[in-house]
Amino acid sequence: MPVLDREPSKDSGGDDGLPKLPLPPLKDTLDTYLSCMKHLLTEEQFNKTKDTVKEFGAPGGVGDLLQSKLEERRLKEANWVYDFWLSDMYLNNRMALPVNSSPAMVFPLQNFKAPIDSLRFAAHLLSGVLEYKTLLDARALPVDYARGQLAGTPMCMEQYYRLFTSYRLPGPERDTLVAQESCVMPEPEHVIVACKKQFFVLDVVINFRRLNERDLLTQLDKIVKMADSGEEQLPPIGLLTSDGRTEWAESRRVLMRESTNRDSLDMIERCLCLLCLDDASGPELSDTTRAMWMLHGGGVAKNGGNRWYDKPMQFVVGADGCCGVVCEHSPFEGIVLVQCTEYLLKYMIGSPSKLLRAASVSELPAPRRLRWKCTPEVHKLLTSSADKLQRLLRNLDMNVHKFEEHGKEFIKKQKISPDAYIQVAIQLAYYRCHRRPVSTYESASIRRFQQGRVDNIRSATPKALAFAKAMTDGMQSTSDTEKMEMLRGAIAAQTNYTIRSITGLAIDNHLLGLREIAHELRMEKPEIFKDEAYLISNQFILSTSQVPTTVEMFCCYGPVVPNGYGVCYNPQSDHIIFSVSSFRESPQTCSAEFVKCLVQGLLDMRDLCNKCNCVSTPTKQRKEQTLETHTQTETNWQSKTQQRPCESSKNQQAPPQVLVKKPDQTQVEAQTQT
Ligand code: COA
Repeated sequence: MPVLDREPSKDSGGDDGLPKLPLPPLKDTLDTYLSCMKHLLTEEQFNKTKDTVKEFGAPGGVGDLLQSKLEERRLKEANWVYDFWLSDMYLNNRMALPVNSSPAMVFPLQNFKAPIDSLRFAAHLLSGVLEYKTLLDARALPVDYARGQLAGTPMCMEQYYRLFTSYRLPGPERDTLVAQESCVMPEPEHVIVACKKQFFVLDVVINFRRLNERDLLTQLDKIVKMADSGEEQLPPIGLLTSDGRTEWAESRRVLMRESTNRDSLDMIERCLCLLCLDDASGPELSDTTRAMWMLHGGGVAKNGGNRWYDKPMQFVVGADGCCGVVCEHSPFEGIVLVQCTEYLLKYMIGSPSKLLRAASVSELPAPRRLRWKCTPEVHKLLTSSADKLQRLLRNLDMNVHKFEEHGKEFIKKQKISPDAYIQVAIQLAYYRCHRRPVSTYESASIRRFQQGRVDNIRSATPKALAFAKAMTDGMQSTSDTEKMEMLRGAIAAQTNYTIRSITGLAIDNHLLGLREIAHELRMEKPEIFKDEAYLISNQFILSTSQVPTTVEMFCCYGPVVPNGYGVCYNPQSDHIIFSVSSFRESPQTCSAEFVKCLVQGLLDMRDLCNKCNCVSTPTKQRKEQTLETHTQTETNWQSKTQQRPCESSKNQQAPPQVLVKKPDQTQVEAQTQT
């Protein structure tokens, strides 16, 4: 299989005519970096960073040299940052994929009355996948056009063509994203069905004929019977893929010693996708628990071994109606996943299944069970992977909340960007919980450019901090008009940064490019990238993303740092779905409290908008100055004797939400994250 991440495809459909990603001017990036970091650092840290940045950006200095090398790279490559970004964001990351990296879409709870109902649903879904694959193979997907900010420009379509053709191969130091090449010699087209932690090959094209829904149901029925057969139970090899990437690479190397295992791995690596027929997960099927089942499968005792995490698309159909998709993130973004999933769900609604039962007599060859030859060494590795998955699932603190007081229409009526408003609300929530601002990531699509993926909107702006302080510490002392003006300031800062990001002029990709080109040139790592501020800037305690849907479902993912939150939101006309995650192991975080603060903040913001009715007054210079002084005195949170949020808030004017963990919540073992 050719390596995908090193070979920019030239025939990727939809990319023709798109501009190349620009390279921002060095000075702009460095200035913005300083202004993004000032309020997140102590005065001492900031002064050091300022000097380091000045030296880096001096005329004729290291920055200029690296910038010129990036300019050369931009001329040669379709997208100067793509390879750097893919490696940094995914392939070099050694963390286990479940929870830490792979997001999931959670479908509405299905009402399966009998076991056959879940198989009918699965057959219907698979038949939609095959329809969609036909569109992809014919390069017949209509080009996406941007919506929202700067609407109307065409978007790069490359990510779609990786949905069913890629595989993330684990490596000892770095993974590889590989792609199948179907044009030279047609690949066998098959889906891998996971059932009771056993893996089966379901050929979807037999004798040059694509299986129809009834055929698919017939085959799935056979698979369930084979999986149930007691004699042939094989170890749950899928668990190995849930381990850290280096560990999985090593286990795979051990497995590969046996030809039986090599053949099985080859079938999995070349499949279109996985269909995971899950056992019932448990009595509770709330949004929150369904999100957890999707992210980690319920661990070893449930469906954790019924997965193969390297494969980009894993459709989960649970016997209890808990359904969704788990995706390996490196080939595409959530927005592409949503488009594909919405197609499938609309297909299922638009072409209702007429299946009553599977064919009792079938000419179709029986699906094949994949065999594994497991030495004692493999069994030991399996035990170790299982333990780590258990720790990961015990550590996940998930909270899905449907905020029903208003949706994006209310925000639009205020003549405010809903995304910017929600981001400011997230900043307010974090401040209310923890009384400090933190480095924040919001994904911004750069699909307006060739091979565009995402850059970061640094939502922790000084204006958002000023607003958060006014709404908490200064609740009594700041007038509503002033608060409203600060809200407008925070929204304007957020919206400006958003536009900067989606037009390819944000700082994160640029700084990454400068760092990586220095590495490529075998230069010593420039000071700016060794500086503590750079580490802090990349510790995304808030990892946020808008994933809107037009069909009822929602996206969720885990935090990216041990003491952080993952906040995914889905704004609808009259409500907003928030999926908030954190790790129980961290004494600093609690998803339920974060949600509480978020809701309170959104209600306060709504009341403020209603009271002020969008009337803004000129800024008062004096107030701004007061706030700036305040900002600086508040930034000592970096000290190692960091206070618990509840302690730090004791002297504040407005009583904050107190983060208290129940004793049992802190008694979790260390999870795989380092
Ligand atoms: N007044 C009234 N309406 C406004 C407005 C204003 N000031 N500003 C924006 N709106 C409207 C927009 O026109 C849009 O209308 P629509 O719902 O009819 O399309 C709507 O509000 C939403 O716009 P906005 O909230 O500003 O957000 P957006 O849709 O432009 O999204 C990003 C902003 C950053 C989320 C988007 O550009 C992006 O990059 N999305 C990809 C994120 C991603 O990759 N997620 C997955 C990661 S895995």
